[in-house]
Amino acid sequence: PISGSKEKEKTLAMIKPDGLLGNYTERIKDVIVDYGFSILREITTQLDQDSASRFYAEHSSKRFFPSLIKYMTSGPVLVMVLEKENAIADWRTLIGPTDAYKAKITNPNSIRAMCGQDLEKNCVHGSDSRLSAQREISFFFEDVSSAERITTHDEL
Ligand code: TYD
Ligand code: MG
Repeated sequence: PISGSKEKEKTLAMIKPDGLLGNYTERIKDVIVDYGFSILREITTQLDQDSASRFYAEHSSKRFFPSLIKYMTSGPVLVMVLEKENAIADWRTLIGPTDAYKAKITNPNSIRAMCGQDLEKNCVHGSDSRLSAQREISFFFEDVSSAERITTHDEL
């Protein structure tokens, strides 16, 4: 149809080590389903120094980087591909601001307010753009088909 066909979008969500350790998985999944996301894929994995550093490569020069990597490798994480219309922005809205301590004040219904602790230990991740979503999904999952895939010269 010319009107009314809204593209679905995929995003990468992750429950970080403190979220898994605190047994927040089921509560977070309830929120995910209640808000109309489909969980296309999920995997529980343990990040090592190398994989955590590559995942957060954009922050490698920041002062908080060593501490962030220590946190992200402190236990297993649950990684999910979520799909719905406007999934990227909607998931970011649902998780709330990066600083979970602030989230408890300004966004008390957000996921980070529910299970996060502070600016570092914020219990969940969400891709921040289409480009990030694509990079992060293929970081963990090899064969997730995506309407938003960028066609590279190799594929032409
Ligand atoms: P960032 O990409 O800025 O936040 P978000 O997860 O909301 O996209 O930062 C990545 C992670 O780095 C963030 O989830 C927690 C950690 N972090 C710190 O530990 N200290 C900081 O000052 C910032 C900005 C982030
Ligand atoms: Mg980010």
